[in-house]
Amino acid sequence: MKSLRWGLIAAGNIAARFAKGLATTTEADVVAVGARSRDRATQFARAHGIERAYGSYAEVLADPDVDAVYISTPNHLHAEWAIAAARAGKHILCEKPAALNAPQLEAVLDVVQACDVFFMEAFMYRCHPQWERVREVMASGAIGETRIIEAAFSFNFGCPLDNIRMSRSMGGGSLMDVGCYCLSFARMVAGEEPRECKATARIGPDSEVDEWAAGVLAFPSGAIAHFACGMRCATPVRAAVYGDRGYLSVASPWLPDAGGATVTVVSEGREETHEVSHGLDLYAGEALTVAAHLGERQAPAMSWSDSLGQARAMDALRASIGLVFPGDCSQ
Ligand SMILES: NC(=O)c1ccc[n+]([C@@H]2O[C@H](COP(=O)([O-])OP(=O)(O)OC[C@H]3O[C@@H](n4cnc5c(N)ncnc54)[C@H](OP(=O)(O)O)[C@@H]3O)[C@@H](O)[C@H]2O)c1
Repeated sequence: MKSLRWGLIAAGNIAARFAKGLATTTEADVVAVGARSRDRATQFARAHGIERAYGSYAEVLADPDVDAVYISTPNHLHAEWAIAAARAGKHILCEKPAALNAPQLEAVLDVVQACDVFFMEAFMYRCHPQWERVREVMASGAIGETRIIEAAFSFNFGCPLDNIRMSRSMGGGSLMDVGCYCLSFARMVAGEEPRECKATARIGPDSEVDEWAAGVLAFPSGAIAHFACGMRCATPVRAAVYGDRGYLSVASPWLPDAGGATVTVVSEGREETHEVSHGLDLYAGEALTVAAHLGERQAPAMSWSDSLGQARAMDALRASIGLVFPGDCSQ
């Protein structure tokens, strides 16, 4: 397979992690990086051995040697740059959440479809093979019918107010940053869209975004999910499915490392553990997922309809905590 040539739209923390991941495989190349300042792009390019550094994102899109772009701007700019990338004929891996809200994502997907390019929301955790094992376990009937789904994802690094996650104008907040993983996990294992989504949150008086939150989802099958997320909060990582015959839990749901991940299954009193690995860096695995499904223009790990379902459920959760972004009004 010819390796896909990547251009980076923004040169922040996760772009650095993505570039490091791609450096571990010969099947993907980062050939260009764009930042809002040429100095920053040049510094980033030097640090990661990238050939071309541009002082704007538009220059990355104009580079004919870039096949695909990785968009890792703050959330409020995802849709704008995804639309620009599609119009430039670039394939797109766009950081989560793919847009501020569902109508914005619909607009992105209309352009993606019209321009006939690949698009995937960058839920990297979905590209790890442990989820195939989870699906196999669930399909085998070992845990029976799904009753309760449980998820948690939070962190606490102090989160200064100048962090993009603490900014309402940039589409910040814990639901948008990490709660979205819990929601996407619950929707994935439920295998259907929730009919009801409710959350409650602590909105920071200075940040004006949800600094921690908890939510409940009800699915048409009868399954119920509950989750917790936060940015100034230290929950244990959780991802578990409880059925009527047993349960499964995933030790490293969001950041399984290259050494493998563990799925524990308890069925009718017997416990089994499954170690699952593809031996790849998580972000390299994500880039290879894009390359493998380029022709189909979307990947089963996170299809367009999956992203739309996700965005609609996120909108409902956000409505229930009364969090409105300035960008919500600019469709
Ligand atoms: N999938 C994952 O594992 C993962 C992990 C962390 C974050 N994310 C997602 O990735 C995105 C970026 O997160 P990050 O942690 O990399 O954030 P970050 O370190 O703050 O980087 C954000 C980048 O966005 C660019 N940017 C453009 N306009 C900006 C503005 N008005 N204010 C601030 N920055 C601006 C900046 O790039 P230049 O100055 O270089 O142009 C900056 O480097 C978010 O959407 C987040 O949800 C995903």
